[in-house]
Amino acid sequence: TPPAARPGGPLRFDPIASVPDDVDAVTVPAGFGWRPVIRWGDPLFADSPDFDPEHPDADAQERQFGYNNDYTDVIVTDPRGRRALLCCNHEYTNRAIMFPPTSSVAAEAEVLRTLMAAHGFSVVQLERRGRGKPWRYRRGARRNRRITATTVFRLDGPAAGSELLRTAADPSGTRVHGTLGNCSGGTTPWGTVLSGEENFNGYFRADPQAVGSKRYGLTDSPSSYGWEQIDPRFDARSADHANEPHRFGWIVEIDPTDPSSTPRKHTALGRFKHEGANVRVDRENRVVAYLGDDEKFDYLYKFVARDRYRPGRSKAARRHNLGLLSEGDLYVARFEGTRRPGNDNLGTGRWLPLVEDGRSAVEGMSVEEVLVFTRLAADRLGATPMDRCEDVEPSRETGKVYVVCTNNSDRGVKTGKPGADAANPRDANKNGHIIELTETGGAADAQTFAWDLFMVCGDTDQAGTYFAGWDGPVAPISCPDNVAFDSENNLWIATDGQPGSIGRNDGLFRVPLDGPERGHLTQFLAVPVEAETCGPVIHDRDGSVFVAVQHPGEDGDWADQHSAFPDYVPAGARPAPGEWRGPRPAIIQVTRESR
Ligand code: FEO
Ligand code: CA
Ligand code: CA
Ligand code: CA
Repeated sequence: TPPAARPGGPLRFDPIASVPDDVDAVTVPAGFGWRPVIRWGDPLFADSPDFDPEHPDADAQERQFGYNNDYTDVIVTDPRGRRALLCCNHEYTNRAIMFPPTSSVAAEAEVLRTLMAAHGFSVVQLERRGRGKPWRYRRGARRNRRITATTVFRLDGPAAGSELLRTAADPSGTRVHGTLGNCSGGTTPWGTVLSGEENFNGYFRADPQAVGSKRYGLTDSPSSYGWEQIDPRFDARSADHANEPHRFGWIVEIDPTDPSSTPRKHTALGRFKHEGANVRVDRENRVVAYLGDDEKFDYLYKFVARDRYRPGRSKAARRHNLGLLSEGDLYVARFEGTRRPGNDNLGTGRWLPLVEDGRSAVEGMSVEEVLVFTRLAADRLGATPMDRCEDVEPSRETGKVYVVCTNNSDRGVKTGKPGADAANPRDANKNGHIIELTETGGAADAQTFAWDLFMVCGDTDQAGTYFAGWDGPVAPISCPDNVAFDSENNLWIATDGQPGSIGRNDGLFRVPLDGPERGHLTQFLAVPVEAETCGPVIHDRDGSVFVAVQHPGEDGDWADQHSAFPDYVPAGARPAPGEWRGPRPAIIQVTRESR
């Protein structure tokens, strides 16, 4: 094994070539291997039934790993590095490739209940024999937990209990069943996990005339998931359930160390199609969370906590820090700057207050209205419409914030919508870009910032691409989505959408942010056909990279599966009669193979 690959050293690899979009395989660099850590349907508890997609069973799914992971973290919990908590969400389901078509009303109801149980979040204990060894999940471990579309959450913060959040079933406006559409997220410095409720609108049927319906994409058509057939709260047209959609679209906080804790939805961080949330603590222990609204022409936000972070591991510090996201101020970003011929654009910007000193900063709206209808409030302030903010993550090392704009094919194309500007430099932006944002004085609560374009993505020969000034060869990249940092402050970028934009499987890329190699983008892996790369988790000092392979083979159906990830049979081997060969979304670990 080359010295650089030893656990404790940085991760070196020979980049892979871009992979065509019909390849059903995980592609990793030469000398590396991959293995699933846990797959959809794997049993979590001692009494969990085994995976059996032929017979959808909601009770079984409640006790098994859920479907379609997006945000993922592996939090090492002991000093010898032998135990960890795998924390990941289950964003949505691809029913057509999961279960056989139904033939009765009862079977249909059971499928719908099973899909509800496949959503949400999992905490799973991992174990291994020592550093550098592969992780395995432990069935029946004390901290294993499933959170689903029916688990009780507590709403907290200034809008909790508001009339806008009350339903017939919950007159208190503080107790919500479930979390939906959980996309990216972040792990806080105090050890909890945040997750963004993103495309929640697709689960509801609603009154299109109700306040906010149009702006939040709520319509009167049957929902794409059909849950209103078995649970009336997903039909928000009746007075009893009219506010149920208001109870989704939040940042949720889950304490993975305490399986009995009640997860929370933080109203202080506003309600929109939350991609995720990443927290930074500045030198003065002020706390900021960066937030993206992933919709074409929607906005970038930040939340600044009222109270400061309390360092240390004491119980009192922990209790204090668990309250940080409950009270504070909310801002939305306005960008100014100049467009330059090489797309090496830069400029300044301002955080426009929506909630300031705990009070509404938007004329004619109460603080509760600002938090529940945040998009409507931000519209009034003249915030900058962005090209779909996905992950927005600060570097713990430099404090610079990386704002990932995945794409926006409607910019400069759709009537009534804005064309290119300095921070969103291309019309019909199908490949996306990444903005580097620097808070004035490095302060979490700065009112202004400077920014530059770090990367304007695309195939390498495409006009308008820009890689932070690097003029050597780079990997083609499109549709950046989740990002993470390694121990040397390199940015790792996962993509979602390359098959549609550049005809390549989605992948994971690495790019240095500083030094002479700044902008030198290389590709580390590619995921199988029709999958999105999620996670990622970079344990470079440990020789390990984890990714969540989300929605492999999603364009297939039960009879015509496009992917057999991750349980590939050797070439030429035939599945046994009745053996299921569809895909199973999974978390995989990539390590250097020992020789
Ligand atoms: Fe679920 Fe914005 O990606
Ligand atoms: Ca995403
Ligand atoms: Ca991230
Ligand atoms: Ca995406």
